[in-house]
Amino acid sequence: MTNELVLVLDFGGQYNQLIARRVRECDVYCEVHPHTLPLDEIRAKNPKGIILTGGPQSVYGEGALSYDAGLFSLGVPVLGICYGSQLMAHALGGEVKAAETSEYGRAELEITAASSRLFAGVNNKTVVWMSHTDRITRVPEGFTTTAKTADCPIAAFENAERGLYATQFHPEVMHTAEGQKMLRNFVRDICGCKGDWTMGPFIENTVAALREKIGSGRALCALSGGVDSSVAAALLSKAIGKQLTCVFVDHGLLRKNEGDEVEAAFGPGSGFDLNFVRVNAGEQFFAKLKGVTEPEQKRKIIGEEFIRVFEAEAKKIGAVDYLVQGTIYPDVIESGLGKAAVIKSHHNVGGLPDYVDFKEIVEPLRLLFKDEVRKAGRALGLPENIVNRQPFPGPGLGIRIIGEVTPEKVKLVQDADAIYREEVANAGADKELAQYFAALTNMRSVGVMGDGRTYDYAVALRAVLTSDFMTAEPARLPWDVLAKAASRIVNEVKGVNRVLYDCTGKPPATIEFE
Ligand code: XMP
Repeated sequence: MTNELVLVLDFGGQYNQLIARRVRECDVYCEVHPHTLPLDEIRAKNPKGIILTGGPQSVYGEGALSYDAGLFSLGVPVLGICYGSQLMAHALGGEVKAAETSEYGRAELEITAASSRLFAGVNNKTVVWMSHTDRITRVPEGFTTTAKTADCPIAAFENAERGLYATQFHPEVMHTAEGQKMLRNFVRDICGCKGDWTMGPFIENTVAALREKIGSGRALCALSGGVDSSVAAALLSKAIGKQLTCVFVDHGLLRKNEGDEVEAAFGPGSGFDLNFVRVNAGEQFFAKLKGVTEPEQKRKIIGEEFIRVFEAEAKKIGAVDYLVQGTIYPDVIESGLGKAAVIKSHHNVGGLPDYVDFKEIVEPLRLLFKDEVRKAGRALGLPENIVNRQPFPGPGLGIRIIGEVTPEKVKLVQDADAIYREEVANAGADKELAQYFAALTNMRSVGVMGDGRTYDYAVALRAVLTSDFMTAEPARLPWDVLAKAASRIVNEVKGVNRVLYDCTGKPPATIEFE
């Protein structure tokens, strides 16, 4: 079955994946491609609509990006956003000029053409998010200006007959109050998509395709307990049952109860039909980490040991046909400017394919964004503690303990972290945080408990806001939440007498402590 498709042509803006995610929230499948995608390939994909993204360049002069102006004559509706709107204006005979000052931030949009289908159901005056330097000074012939702001007389324009629409502002960002409505108007009404992209059919189709591909073959999955590998395993289990073996290496550096949660979700009695192997390798890891304090060395040791343990299990299983990987869509998208810079260099415990005897890789989540992976996980019956799991680094608590890693310190940080997470969740603050956790510093300091002196460790709490994990802002958690967590930690976790909150952003700090 082929889904209705909206194409997002990427001109290198920072919100490009967000546009795609917003389109998918309208239950419409969309793909992000570089702006250089040739016209015949665009045509071959038979899109119901095309969205041109924002980008850092100017549409005129040396930095101008290549594109095929034929895309405006395909008879397919096009929405240009920011740079995309300037491109549409420039390409079709309008005028774009450098503005003296850039317009950045919130602005009040006034809709001047009440009949515009793009703005159907949108308030006449509504808040939008602007971020541009160049501005459109004249719309192309046959086009009408449909909205303005105080600083931007042409904030939206269209030629409804040709199905061409443009907004200088960004409908995809949260700060544009009614942006989702506008995007929905575009994909569902103007492009005529019915909305056939939902997780139910996705799961059915993927399971059928996996069954056909794998046949009676065998597959192996390194299960970490993270949402991606868990959902991949659940899909495979549905498709091929016991032909799948999941190896879960518990390196003893997981969060509190996490190993048991993974086992409960996938092990015997879980309802998932698969071979589940849990390797409790904690002691082995602790032995290797004894006396090691240098962060990179710790990472290396944990990564190598992980591979060794996995490899030993894989050898017992013998040759397999497929190795399952939890690759998701953001890892697949190539940036419109052709630079890999936007993609985070993966410092995962990877390298597995080199060590395992298999014929091919299967990546059942290649088309999904993270929020869709979570939706699929729910639809597959995975428990919330796995579906909602926040990102957790491969080396685990090993890089959240400064200095030597010992079982005792792991216990301290596990307990402190569990309390912190509980308090953040109780306060309902967890939803907006990208990542939050406790780390164990290597600092001991003097305290007083009852009538006695203590000389114990300090725990550091961290919470960050980020969408790409390349940069992050420290979250301004309510003081009451922090104070309660701190009080519970020093009272309930023996060996900790001080709690600190990390207020640094990334850069200059990183999200993890090591
Ligand atoms: P940093 O500390 O580099 O972290 O700001 C950025 C994001 O990457 C995660 N992280 C890792 N993830 N293997 C992983 O799979 C790793 O070795 C690793 N190190 C950091 C980190 O949790 C954050 O989400």
